[in-house]
Amino acid sequence: MAEDGTKPFKLRISSSDEVFEIPAHRTIVDVLLDHGIEIPVSCEQGMCGTCITKVIRGIPDHRDLFLSNGEHEANDQMTPCCSRSLTRFLTLDL
Ligand code: FES
Repeated sequence: MAEDGTKPFKLRISSSDEVFEIPAHRTIVDVLLDHGIEIPVSCEQGMCGTCITKVIRGIPDHRDLFLSNGEHEANDQMTPCCSRSLTRFLTLDL
């Protein structure tokens, strides 16, 4: 766990069922890029919404400023450039 309480989690890709470990110090976007899965990004700070991805299972740890409170509470989409997971597993529609 990082000093700010950020924890690692496992990310599942729905199309391939592949699972990747997301360490506390790296983003979903970074780890997936290592494996040839590219999510379009722009700001990479949760401001623009370019990277918004549908959540299939799990509860995101929303860290963006783009989605509204209601959209955060719905937990059916997230910004993988900066947001993480509150659950041990998170499945994204990729
Ligand atoms: S790239 Fe801008 S919110 Fe993710």
